[in-house]
Amino acid sequence: MTPSLPPLAERVLLIGMMASGKTTVGRIVAERLGWEYVDSDAQIEERTGRTVRQIFEQDGESAFRVEEKAALEGAIAESRPLVVGVAGGAVLDLGTRELLRQSGTVVWLRADPDLLAERVAASGQEHRPLLEGDPEGTLQRLDAERRTIYEELADVVVDIAGRTPDELADHIVQALAA
Ligand code: S3P
Repeated sequence: MTPSLPPLAERVLLIGMMASGKTTVGRIVAERLGWEYVDSDAQIEERTGRTVRQIFEQDGESAFRVEEKAALEGAIAESRPLVVGVAGGAVLDLGTRELLRQSGTVVWLRADPDLLAERVAASGQEHRPLLEGDPEGTLQRLDAERRTIYEELADVVVDIAGRTPDELADHIVQALAA
């Protein structure tokens, strides 16, 4: 059964690579709009009772992608206005892409892999098992695989370089009002 969905304008779906700032920026956008923020990784952990890392290690990446789609379906079924931080790789699944397209305004936080590599070096990566070993090389490879997908899905594109999370949130809120 198709759940009854709130108007598209009342859902913002933030996409982009790991460390592009989806969670930080998403929380600020949600606060400015008076909406709730949900994070797809946190939803998965709550639904499954396992961490992102445990799912990757025990069941593999494809099982994780299935959980990711289920978590997004759950979040999107909510009828209240939401900002959703969509985990970086969720867009790899065709069904998830379709779901995102139908579910609200998709905003891509665009970043060069070099900048992302600097940012991941400066923070913990507990929920990012893919970045073990060679984070820089992995970010380059994932960027090459995903850039066109992000581009094709995005209603709004925001470059993160040189902007603070507050500035990025302002930019997104303005784009929504336009
Ligand atoms: C992933 C991104 C992570 C997390 C997992 C895989 C990816 O989420 O879901 O480590 O494939 O890009 P964030 O984008 O929130 O870091």
